[in-house]
This record gives sequence, C-alpha cells and structure tokens, in this order.
Amino acid sequence: MRCGKCEDDAIIELRQHNIAFCRDHYDEFFRVRVEKAIKNFNLFKNDAKILIAISGGKDSLALWDVLFRLGYETKGVIIDLGIPQYSEQSVELSKKFAEEKSLDLHIIKLEDEFAGNNILKIAREVHRTNCSVCGLVKRYLLNKYAYESGYGVICTGHNLDDEAALLFGNVLGWKLEYMKKQFPKLEKNIDKLVDKAKPLIYLTDREVAVYNLINKIEYIDYECPLSKGANSRKYKHALSTLEEIMSGSKQRFLFDFYRNKSKIFFEEKDEYIDERSCKICGYPTTQDVCNYCRIKEKVLSDNE
Ligand code: FES
Ligand code: ZN
Ligand code: ZN
Repeated sequence: MRCGKCEDDAIIELRQHNIAFCRDHYDEFFRVRVEKAIKNFNLFKNDAKILIAISGGKDSLALWDVLFRLGYETKGVIIDLGIPQYSEQSVELSKKFAEEKSLDLHIIKLEDEFAGNNILKIAREVHRTNCSVCGLVKRYLLNKYAYESGYGVICTGHNLDDEAALLFGNVLGWKLEYMKKQFPKLEKNIDKLVDKAKPLIYLTDREVAVYNLINKIEYIDYECPLSKGANSRKYKHALSTLEEIMSGSKQRFLFDFYRNKSKIFFEEKDEYIDERSCKICGYPTTQDVCNYCRIKEKVLSDNE
C-alpha cells in the first residue's frame, strides 16, 4: 500500500478517511487533526497558557507532545493516586517524558491531601466506588491547581473513541443532564472554574497509539487496575464492532450529536442552577459543602 500523499510505503490505512499514509505524512495528518479541533471548536487561543492533565497513558502524553510541537505554552500536571505499581509507573513515565523534552510537570500526591490515604482507602472510607471517587478528586484537584496557578484552560486527552463511548453510555441510559454537558469545549463562566478542552477529539485510540509509536513516546500501556470491567470498555467494544461493518459510523454518531446538540437541548445555558461556594474551600458547588470537602472531612476525621 502506498501513501496517499507521496510514493512511500504506507504505515497506516485510515478506512474512515479512505486514505493511507507514510510515517511523515501520518505525523502531519495527526497534527493537522489537532489543529482542526482547536479551530473548529474554538478550544483556546494561540497564546493561551495551557495546563494538560497527564495520566502517563497514551492519550495524555500524545496530547502533550503534539501541543508542544505545535508551539503552545504548556505545563503538565499529574495526580499520583497511590495505586500500587500503576501510579508509580504512570508518574515515572510522565516524568521521563517531561525531562526528555525539558517540559514542566507538576505532581500532586493524593496522600498529601488525605493524610497518607490512597484512592483505595478513601473510596472504602466513604463507601463509593474507586472510579467515582477518583473522577471526583481528579476533577477537583486539577481545577484547583489550574485556577490557583493562573491557567485559563485544562486540556485532557479524551479522544474520539472515549467521547463516542461516553455518549453511547449516556444515550443508553438517557442521561440527558450528562449529554447536555458533553462537548469538546466546556466553558465554565463561573468564578474559580477553569475551562476544559479536548483537542484529540478527531483522533481514535488506534490513531493516537500509532502517533506514539512513530514518535517513540513511551506510555503506560495497560488500563488502571481499578477500572477493570468498566462499562466504558464495553461501549467502546460495541462501537468498534459497528465500525467494522459500517465504516465511519462512530464518527458520525459523535459529530452529528455535537452538530445537533443545540437543537436537541434548545441551546440551554450552562445548567449550574444553584451556584454557591463551598463553606470550607470556597470553590463552586450546588450544596453548602462540596463533595470533595465532604470526602476529605470524613477520611480525615476517621483517621484521627
Ligand atoms: Fe481512576 Fe483508576 S485511574 S480509578
Ligand atoms: Zn507520504
Ligand atoms: Zn469544598
């Protein structure tokens, strides 16, 4: 198979785009897709200070690499959740990546915030699943760090497959409130909440993995051991089965939703109905005390 842009051998075929690329043209294609997402969804300005949520996995490191190569001013931040082996490796690989490129990485240790407790102990203490506590503390700590360090936007490595699977799950359960919030850019317009953006939205899992391969980016190549059996993996599987027999269906499913979203929801505004500040930390919440502070209080008081 030949590259669609030159005479070289192709290293990847992209059925949904009906084209194949050699190494260099694939590398270019990837960067163009990211630039296109930034432009089409107005993710951030050229001179924005960008904070990237790093996990040590393939998506966040590819994202950091590509934004750095495109000339953006970036900093990475990783939350060390204290998951044996997995967290150590994620942090190590992220540090290695940052050092090699002379990029700045900030590490937040969950155990420092929760008097030595890791994510497993915290979840047990507050009777919630690991993933729900993990999602909550990550969102909270990333936002807090971004806000306090003066960043206007947090970028995450969510790609087309992640977002299509998320939408699929939300449609299956008709979770309209979640669907309303699903978009490549989330503008918060609320004091102390920083905007979020997903520049890998036009790229699939496979495309990101190939980008890392050709650019020799080493990442943690297994999923978090606590998320085994997560529904998102089943949704991804279902969508890729469909994609095999109907090429382009996954992409249409997601982007037709984005295109029609305002019609479906009558362009409702951001739905923070009851905007208040947490009595303890001062960050926005819909209750008196935010969920993060509730969890923290419970864990710390049980530790005394
Ligand atoms: Fe959050 Fe595993 S990374 S539970
Ligand atoms: Zn080529
Ligand atoms: Zn709070």
